Amino acid sequence: MSKRFYITTAIDYVNGQPHLGHAYEKIIADVIARSRRALGEEVFFLTGLDEHGQKVQQAAQAEGKSAQAYCDELAASWHSFVTKLGLTNDDFVRTTSARHKEVVQAILAKLHREGHFYQASTEGFYSTKEETFVTEKERLPDGTFPAHYGEVVKLSETNWYFKLGTHQQWLIDHIEVNPSFIQPDYRRNEVLGFLKNHTLEDLCISRPAARLTWGIPIPFDPAYVTYVWFDALVNYVSVPAAMGDAGIRAALGLQPTAVNLQPPAWPADAHVIGKDIIKFHAVYWPIMLKAMGLPLPKQLLVHGWWQKDGAKMSKSTGNVVDPVAVIDDWGLDAFRFYVVRELDIGPDGNWTDAGFAARYQAELANGLGNLVNRSLSMLKRYRSGVVPERHDELAPDAAKAAADTMTHLRASELQKALHSIWTLVTRANQYVDQTAPFKLAKDPAQAARLDEVLYNLVESCRVLAVLLHPFIPGTAAKIYAQLNNTGTPDKLALAAWGGLPPGQTIGEPAALFPRRDAPKP
Ligand code: MSP
Repeated sequence: MSKRFYITTAIDYVNGQPHLGHAYEKIIADVIARSRRALGEEVFFLTGLDEHGQKVQQAAQAEGKSAQAYCDELAASWHSFVTKLGLTNDDFVRTTSARHKEVVQAILAKLHREGHFYQASTEGFYSTKEETFVTEKERLPDGTFPAHYGEVVKLSETNWYFKLGTHQQWLIDHIEVNPSFIQPDYRRNEVLGFLKNHTLEDLCISRPAARLTWGIPIPFDPAYVTYVWFDALVNYVSVPAAMGDAGIRAALGLQPTAVNLQPPAWPADAHVIGKDIIKFHAVYWPIMLKAMGLPLPKQLLVHGWWQKDGAKMSKSTGNVVDPVAVIDDWGLDAFRFYVVRELDIGPDGNWTDAGFAARYQAELANGLGNLVNRSLSMLKRYRSGVVPERHDELAPDAAKAAADTMTHLRASELQKALHSIWTLVTRANQYVDQTAPFKLAKDPAQAARLDEVLYNLVESCRVLAVLLHPFIPGTAAKIYAQLNNTGTPDKLALAAWGGLPPGQTIGEPAALFPRRDAPKP
């Protein structure tokens, strides 16, 4: 059965501030979503907000607001962040929405009916910051708990638990048989190592309503609300279910809806997440899905963490990169380009302002921007902007760049795709230097050769617009507009050489990435 390409991001905690890490993850997912559309696939791209839990309840109380009012205010600014990043998400989930809650409760009721849960009391240590019980094993030699847990308090509680014991072996087998399920490989090995060396403890899926009201009520026991991670992970199926994904609705025993998502989305093709939340996605989420009777996602694409100037980003020390400020200063495409080009999906990265400026100057201003500007300006100057007859000298270079780019995009290898695209930028810039059109223009006997060179250059610019569209769509559209092409370069099939019609008069060339040592226009 055909299905659409379904890609998700982690849903951000509503009470935080959008920073470079959030922006990076969302941009990676957007580039993949745009690439798939450009390859001709139907796509469903989901991002959104994780709004329940103790931290939100406490923050709202501290501001004297209701939790819902507090979330609504913050959600508005997160939503404008999505726009700022130029994301093409098809939906935006909020875990406080009725459509999400309905699915969480249906899942809880089904799993309860089918005997996956039991009630037990525990006495233990609890981290409010992480909203989780902490075990003795995690104590540091000095008797304290690791700092990321924040304050840890002794707690004695009765809760609902999800039995995980019977799930451990099939999960190990699944990860071993499906090497692409967790990528990159070293993350997969980490998860396998964990699963093979630990016995999974049952997962506490409830919190007493007596101390936490800001959560989804457990449908079979009103004294409890749902553990925030159980609630949050469900977003990946609750939204397609609300849109009428028949497979999900049938598995969960939900009535059919008036809408019917066609083609359906589930199973997800890629969950894009950071390395810190891999256990939730690689262990708990597959087990939850198996218990629900739903197929597992095809891939967890796990990215690393950004630091700034070699140190952890932290609001308290002021060591942060504010993506909005960078975008306002340098432009959205410069930011989108930089984060994808600088940091491959997997390892940790380091932001420096100097590194950003250097790539901007070398790759965008002097590389791509200069190529497009001088190619179009020469066509304007020497041929009044009229595209000459087709000529194929750079066609093999363009074809190779396009084929390699598509191969990498199909494998979500975004940094490699940019490398392939830049082979054409570099080749075309070299071609200008080698053929020296400014010299050819001075010699009337070289008029035919000048036509050939100019065609190769402007057609290379057009191909580049197509290849770059998933990454820097605004710039791709500007190149198309400057060529006076109609339509948008949003299908990779348009990268085939020879798309620029001879006789077309191009528009006005304008700098795509102004050099920053020159005064700003
Ligand atoms: N709400 C949970 C996710 C639930 S998904 C069902 C959460 N939220 S978060 O706001 O803390 O993080 C959201 C995403 O941002 C995570 O994937 C996390 O790894 C990522 N990042 C947070 N800081 C980051 C960096 N410094 N660098 C890169 N990504 C980072 O976890």
